[in-house]
Amino acid sequence: MYLKNAWYVAGWGHEIQRSLTQRWIIGEPLVMYRTEAGKAVALEDRCPHRRAALSKGNLIGDTVQCGYHGVTLNCAGACVAIPGQEQIPPSMKVRAYPVAEKWQWVWVWMGDPEAADESLIPDFRYNSEPGWLSTGGCIDVKANYQLLTDNLLDLTHETYVHAKTIGNSAVVETPMTHRVEGREVHVERIIKDAPPPPLFARVRNLDEHIDRWQVIRFQPPANVSIDARGYPAGTEDLEKGLRWFSINSITPVDERTSKYYWTITRCFALEDEAITKLIHDSILATFMEDVEILEAQQIMIETDSRTKAEVGVRADSGSVAARRILEKLVRQESAAVTQ
Ligand code: FES
Ligand SMILES: [Fe+2]
Repeated sequence: MYLKNAWYVAGWGHEIQRSLTQRWIIGEPLVMYRTEAGKAVALEDRCPHRRAALSKGNLIGDTVQCGYHGVTLNCAGACVAIPGQEQIPPSMKVRAYPVAEKWQWVWVWMGDPEAADESLIPDFRYNSEPGWLSTGGCIDVKANYQLLTDNLLDLTHETYVHAKTIGNSAVVETPMTHRVEGREVHVERIIKDAPPPPLFARVRNLDEHIDRWQVIRFQPPANVSIDARGYPAGTEDLEKGLRWFSINSITPVDERTSKYYWTITRCFALEDEAITKLIHDSILATFMEDVEILEAQQIMIETDSRTKAEVGVRADSGSVAARRILEKLVRQESAAVTQ
């Protein structure tokens, strides 16, 4: 189940260069490159002649020459040359996808090009905001993209999965609340006067109790940002505490494979490279703990032949709300197509 009229991250800006790069998004193959003027392009990666992968061909100027029999397409997907013939049949063309670059990432609109609306790119301003420093990466995950958004919307798992870094018992002991705002879900947990989790203690040399905030924002189809703060209890002292955004965009490759784009972007100790490295390495290790759980969960889901439903718990409320929003959007989209 995918929302087509949506922006998906296809890569970091620096990954799309003057060469042909293949990406799969929601089960569709794309060939991507930059024009000589520097604009990122995404075309369907199936040659209209015999369906060879265009990404195996050559980038010539701003055109792609298929590596099999030399059919050449421009950056709008129109055919400009067929070796050995003058006439170009009208159907010799590929789909061109709208592309936008924002918040360090290259986004591709997978639906109706007429409906492409840049205001629907999720608000990830802290990836590029002055006074904030981001570090991040991309992880290939053998799991459905919604398992990743579920994971990010219910942080009670930190207590059990991430006890080495960002989890401790204070997380699970503090209830969270959620609310739906239009297409978004906001989940909030504010932990008062509790021991810091190990990573917070290391980053800021904290040994006293802290107040900890987790303010989560889900934007469909699979974007989650988490405003994470930890201050000495009873203060909002950033000199001794920390604040970062965990920014996450999950791109479905297909139903059982995802690309997990992530950053941590902080507003303290910006010059301190050792802190950048500590945060980067610790968060990557933390996410790999999630990946291990989610990939095993994916296998269990796929191999379960029973029709018995899963049993929900109170902490699912945010992820269930997000799934409902996405299901509704997908339903509306397919109803509009069949009209
Ligand atoms: S398959 Fe591309 S030119 Fe023949
Ligand atoms: Fe996690």
